Amino acid sequence: MTDSRTLHGVNGLLICVLLILFNGTSVDTSEGGVGGDIDDCLNNNCSGNGNCSDRVNGFYCYCNDGYYGITCDIEAGPCSPNPCENNGTCFQDENNLVYCNCTSEFEGERCESEKPPKIFTVTLTIIDRIFVDDYKDLTKSLTLGLIEDLNSIFKPFLEQNFDGFSTIVFTGFFQGSVGAIFDVIFAATSEINATSIVKAFSRANGTNQLRFVLLGTIKAVNKLHTSTGATDSLVTESSSELEPWIIALIVFLIIFAILLVVIVILVVSLVMDNFLPLQTL
Ligand SMILES: *[C@@H]1O[C@H](CO)[C@@H](O)[C@H](O)[C@H]1NC(C)=O
Ligand SMILES: *[C@@H]1O[C@H](CO)[C@@H](O)[C@H](O)[C@H]1NC(C)=O
Ligand SMILES: *[C@@H]1O[C@H](CO)[C@@H](O)[C@H](O)[C@H]1NC(C)=O
Ligand SMILES: *[C@@H]1O[C@H](CO)[C@@H](O)[C@H](O)[C@H]1NC(C)=O
Ligand SMILES: *[C@@H]1O[C@H](CO)[C@@H](O)[C@H](O)[C@H]1NC(C)=O
Ligand SMILES: *[C@@H]1O[C@H](CO)[C@@H](O)[C@H](O)[C@H]1NC(C)=O
Repeated sequence: MTDSRTLHGVNGLLICVLLILFNGTSVDTSEGGVGGDIDDCLNNNCSGNGNCSDRVNGFYCYCNDGYYGITCDIEAGPCSPNPCENNGTCFQDENNLVYCNCTSEFEGERCESEKPPKIFTVTLTIIDRIFVDDYKDLTKSLTLGLIEDLNSIFKPFLEQNFDGFSTIVFTGFFQGSVGAIFDVIFAATSEINATSIVKAFSRANGTNQLRFVLLGTIKAVNKLHTSTGATDSLVTESSSELEPWIIALIVFLIIFAILLVVIVILVVSLVMDNFLPLQTL
C-alpha cells in the first residue's frame, strides 16, 4: 500500500501521471490511494460519535444514538434533522415545542403543502364592444375572437400592474354592452387583493392602458383560497349610471316571469279540465 498524498508541484504531477500510466489505475490524491485502498478510517473518528467502517475510496460512519450526518457531526434534536419540509425553518419555543417557519410559497404545520394560487373573479362592463348572442357560448368562434381581443389588452395591463400575475380565464359574457366575467390568477406569494384589482381597473378606465371605457360596476371577488376554508371578500366600486336601469330591468323580468308561469299554469289547468273527461271515456 502506497501513500502518495504529499505530491508537490510539477514533479508531483509528473510522478502522478507516470503512476497512472504505469499502474493503469486512477489516482485520487485527496484520498491518497495509489493502486490500492487505504484505511480511510485512520483519519476519521466519526467525530467521536460513532464507529468508522472503511470502504473502497471512502468510509461509513455508524453513528451513536443522538448523532447523525456523514461524520456523525450533527447532534440530533427536535429541530435536527429539520422536520420542516420545503426549506422551512425550524424553531423551538421555551416549552420545547417545535414550529416551522415556512417560506412564502408553502404552508402547513411542517410546510408540507404548496400554497394555492390567488384567484379573483372580476366582473365588468365594456361599452365600446357590441354584444351578440354568440357571446353566451364560450366555444363559438365570435366569442373566441372576443376573448383573444380582450386578452391582448388585459394581459399586458395585468402584468404591468401586478406582481405575480399568472393568467386570466374568461368564464362568461353578458349583455350590456359587453359584460365580461373572468378569473384572474396570481401566484400564492402575490400581495394582490380585491380592492387593488378594482382600483387598477378604475384608474385605467378610458386610458391608453386599457383602451376601452368601462361602465357600471367593477367587481372583484376573492375565490376560495386558504386550505382551511373559503374566505370571500367582496369589493365593489361603482359609477352607478346604469345601475338603477339594470335593477329596474331585473325587477321587471322577475315580475314578467312570475306572470308567465301563472298564465301557463292557468292555461294548462283549463286544457286539462276540458280534455281529461274525454280521455277517460
Ligand atoms: C476526532 O478527530 C478530530 C479531528 O480529526 C479531533 O479534533 C477530535 O478530538 C477527535 N475526537 C475524538 C473523540 O477522538
Ligand atoms: C461501535 O462499536 C462498539 C464496540 O464494538 C459497539 O459497542 C457499538 O455498539 C458500536 N456503535 C455503533 C453505533 O455501531
Ligand atoms: C430549498 O433551498 C435550496 C437552496 O437554497 C434550493 O435549491 C431549493 O430549490 C429550495 N427548495 C424549495 C422547495 O424551495
Ligand atoms: C419566521 O420568518 C419570518 C420571515 O422570514 C421572520 O421575520 C420571523 O422572525 C421568523 N420567526 C421565527 C420564530 O424564526
Ligand atoms: C390591498 O392592497 C393594497 C396595495 O397593495 C393595500 O394598500 C391595501 O391595504 C390592501 N387592502 C386590504 C383590504 O388588504
Ligand atoms: C369610466 O369612464 C367613463 C367616462 O370616461 C365614465 O362614464 C365611467 O363611469 C367610468 N367607469 C368606471 C367604472 O369608473
